[in-house]
Amino acid sequence: MTKRIVALPGDGIGAEIMSSALKILAEIMLLENLDFDIQQYPFGGAGIDEAGDPLPPATLAACEKAEAILLGAIGGPKWDQAPKRPEQGLLGLRKALGLFANIRPITVPDAIVHLSPLKAENVRGVDFVVVRELTGGIYFGEKQLAAEAASDLCTYSKAEIQRIIRKAFDIARTRSKKVTSVDKANVLATSKLWRQTAEEVAAEYPDCTLEHQLVDSAAMVMIQKPKAFDVVVTENLFGDILSDEASVIPGSLGMMPSASHSENGPSLYEPIHGSAPDIANQNIANPMSMILSAAMMLRQSFGLETAAKRIETACDQVMNQGILTADLGGKASTTEFTDAVIQALH
Ligand code: NAD
Ligand code: IPM
Ligand code: MN
Repeated sequence: MTKRIVALPGDGIGAEIMSSALKILAEIMLLENLDFDIQQYPFGGAGIDEAGDPLPPATLAACEKAEAILLGAIGGPKWDQAPKRPEQGLLGLRKALGLFANIRPITVPDAIVHLSPLKAENVRGVDFVVVRELTGGIYFGEKQLAAEAASDLCTYSKAEIQRIIRKAFDIARTRSKKVTSVDKANVLATSKLWRQTAEEVAAEYPDCTLEHQLVDSAAMVMIQKPKAFDVVVTENLFGDILSDEASVIPGSLGMMPSASHSENGPSLYEPIHGSAPDIANQNIANPMSMILSAAMMLRQSFGLETAAKRIETACDQVMNQGILTADLGGKASTTEFTDAVIQALH
């Protein structure tokens, strides 16, 4: 059966790494006898340039009808003063599709353990998941900006907290059954409700354990003892910051994929990083974040475990051969790395 996929390359390195992922998908289609219908649409800065809107109505309509969405990255200095920035398009898309659960896996491939800025014994075998609430909190509260004062309102309903905590426990049940909920319950009202709700939801999962950590100390423990975590669940802003921090454990943002799920619509798969304007158009970006996001799509949206695993194994093999992009201290270009993954798929 044909899988209908929408691809949103976006801006900066978004287009470069999307092209890598699409090449890998074309190859895996042949090798595994699959059929993908992939249509590209403008989004972010490219949406502003082509259609005057970071989330053009035709792009949103296509995403709503798709079975899964692949997104590169958006944003860049060119649009920083635009009346509607590319980032508003991204937040608008997440909200419109109800993508409340953002899954960000943090693992360290054996091939690059020695490249981590942290001690090898602390990073070898790291394998945890950040479950980031994605459609609530301070990102979506009322905003006011005046010359002498500004405010951003942070609101969470109990129902919003319940569904993301349940998502974290459902994932924990497939792993080592431990959830760490990260909040700032010593100060914030939203965090107090978060913690109390997490306790209530935990009672529905008697086979699992729940612990709480305050976000400031969690940020420290994540670097000091990353193996202490299995499933980390947290609110939108904390999850944004902690997951970029966690990318330091393997050693580069350029390898980090993610999946965003709604209650029942199409899921979206994107790297956790941005459009990296500092390295755009140089063919040096690490495409693994996008390639691994595509693998997550095959597994989580389509149940294509063999194909997903084949892509992940190929990426590992290429890194084992010492073929690395510049973010990991290597010399391979984006296209050379991609071609090596295609070879390794065979
Ligand atoms: P960034 O994530 O784009 O880049 C941070 C650093 O990581 C840069 O030095 C960059 O070169 C490096 N990097 C990121 N991805 C890489 C890759 N695949 N390979 C090698 N190096 C990589 O963050 P930023 O520079 O703060 O933001 C740039 C723009 O991206 C901003 O407009 C921001 O709003 C936007 N942004 C978009 C998304 C998204 O589309 N989901 C996410 C984060 C930031
Ligand atoms: C991310 C990005 C976005 C976020 C920005 C670009 C709106 O940093 O996907 O992590 O903060 O969610
Ligand atoms: Mn971010």
